[in-house]
Amino acid sequence: MLNGRRVLLAVTGGVAAYKSAFLARRLVEAGVDLEVILTDSATEFIGTQTFAAITGRQPHRSLFEDESVSPHTELARWSDAVVVAPATAATIARIANGVSSDLLTATLLATEAPVLLAPAMHTEMWEHVATRRNIETLVEDGYRLVGPETGELAGGDIGVGRVSEPEQIIEALEALFDQSGGGRRLVVTAGGTREPIDPVRFLGNRSSGKMGHAIADEAARRGFHTTLVTTSDLPALPSVKVVRVETAAEMQSAVLEEEADVAVFAAAVADFRPAEVFGEKVARADGMSSITLQSTPDILASVVGRQNRPFVVGFAAETGGVERAIEKARAKKVDLLVYNNVSEPGSSFGSDTNEVVIIDSGGQTDPWPLMSKREVARKLVDLILTTIDPQG
Ligand SMILES: Cc1cc2nc3c(=O)[nH]c(=O)nc-3n(C[C@H](O)[C@H](O)[C@H](O)COP(=O)(O)O)c2cc1C
Repeated sequence: MLNGRRVLLAVTGGVAAYKSAFLARRLVEAGVDLEVILTDSATEFIGTQTFAAITGRQPHRSLFEDESVSPHTELARWSDAVVVAPATAATIARIANGVSSDLLTATLLATEAPVLLAPAMHTEMWEHVATRRNIETLVEDGYRLVGPETGELAGGDIGVGRVSEPEQIIEALEALFDQSGGGRRLVVTAGGTREPIDPVRFLGNRSSGKMGHAIADEAARRGFHTTLVTTSDLPALPSVKVVRVETAAEMQSAVLEEEADVAVFAAAVADFRPAEVFGEKVARADGMSSITLQSTPDILASVVGRQNRPFVVGFAAETGGVERAIEKARAKKVDLLVYNNVSEPGSSFGSDTNEVVIIDSGGQTDPWPLMSKREVARKLVDLILTTIDPQG
């Protein structure tokens, strides 16, 4: 899986830097086309010549003394993936804050390649509130982490903070290149629909679109041809085809236009819309004592009812227990239903985290712990893949 991949290995200034020489060696043996960046501090722990001998190329050291005029943009474009191992607390803080003060951090800011971080530091540094905050930001921004492990640290202390072993880092790197989506087509809906009352006002809901956008990004990273039908302005990866819509009716026609192998309905679609939409803004003086509502189209039902229906994943944002969602999974004939109680802290609309229960087509439930929406997306794409293709 790694043979022929262009990988940039960045080594920062911790005692564990010596282990990155072993990592470099293994990567070269695996057929990786390897470039190395060393921070100034890294060279206090390991010499450039070690990596030059292993890779056959001089490591990159500086924004201004490299052979290239613009080494950060060249390396950023060249890389299929970047591994930062070990990743110090200082480098983690710079990346999390978008500081591009050296060759490594400028390259990371310029690259669109996936980035894997292997943190290594003393337990106190790892557990410091600033590092916790930076790590949360990085996970939320889509960076992948491997480790740190618990074990013996420099100086003989024991605790969490030990860098992962080269084999673990290589396994995590292989996962970055996981293309098990295999070109299948996936459509995902996101955000809350807005049903107009007049040109200014609408009926809406509090959905942010974060969950659906995280699923779209994850699916695209894993090799699905991904279409995101969304009401949200949130960004998506360049490889995701984004269709911006506003109403349930627009969302339905955009979804039905897509040929899909997998359809994930993460949007909060209005169940009702105003029966009459005023062409001009209704003035306060004209009054509006009531709004007559009519049902919106059931997008999920229209896809489930299709010949050659795709694998369908529904979302049920409820404010009550899971029983109603189990009934919904059965009635709507979905392959998987993701239930979340939006009245729980940590699972509300707009939150960066979600605590969900997965319900399968037989009504079996699997509660997942509270995790970031990106992690939910990752696990959900895993589950979709293992359900549609159990042999892998
Ligand atoms: C002996 C020694 C060991 C160190 N080990 C670590 C470490 O394991 N992790 C870490 O985050 N910082 C460690 N540091 C501190 C970093 O070297 C320091 O924060 C440096 O600025 C990191 O720079 P860089 O991230 O640009 O490589 C160590 C410092 C010394 C003197």
